[in-house]
Amino acid sequence: MALRIDILTLFPEMFPPILGTSIPKRAAEKGLVSYHLTNIRDFATDGHKSVDDKPFGGGPGMVMMCQTLFDAVAHAEQQDPRPATRILLSPQGRVMDQPLVEELSSKERLLLIAGHYEGFDERIIQGLSPMELSIGDYVLSGGELAAMVVVDAVVRLLPGALGAQDGAADESFADGLLEYPQYTKPREYRGMTVPDILLSGNHAAIAKWRLEQRKVRTKERRPDLWQAYEEKQNKTR
Ligand code: ADE
Repeated sequence: MALRIDILTLFPEMFPPILGTSIPKRAAEKGLVSYHLTNIRDFATDGHKSVDDKPFGGGPGMVMMCQTLFDAVAHAEQQDPRPATRILLSPQGRVMDQPLVEELSSKERLLLIAGHYEGFDERIIQGLSPMELSIGDYVLSGGELAAMVVVDAVVRLLPGALGAQDGAADESFADGLLEYPQYTKPREYRGMTVPDILLSGNHAAIAKWRLEQRKVRTKERRPDLWQAYEEKQNKTR
């Protein structure tokens, strides 16, 4: 059955351009995933359609209120009997990495909550117990772009989402190493040449060279990933 992704947001109009392009679009057309947008503001009950208010105790900005969000979640969850993994996008959350993306891609249903303004009333987190997820240590003006990042990273891992040509198995992070350098035509460009080994036709030698390049790059650029890779290698040895 297709993965169902619900997205709760105050800005649903931000999503169709992304969900309707490239891999996210193709995956939906193939029936691997379906997207469902809910506008949190539709659940506001006052005349001003308020979804946020000033923080108790004072301070800058506005805080997303409980009722609209609880009602929006209940509404979305009623649309399908399968239990949803609730994810709230927030810089306070666990920082997403590829193992987590893989875990999410195995779920039947994801419900993403994108907030705006200074943050959420803490009782939203207390009452809905979502997984809090950050896409990195920087602050966006809202969770929408983060939700799109999650959707894109998850959907491309669904079996059949990528063409046979561009499988996800041997790319960066699948095994904790960065990618090897790639080249295509022409063989020489502005005096820069393609490494001879790639033109040799010796597939074993090419594979060995590529693995070596991945290790060198990872060691140089991402000592954190390199250390984790080495620890994993030592464990399985
Ligand atoms: N909302 C604002 N900043 C964010 C981030 N870095 N990750 C997820 N959601 C966010």
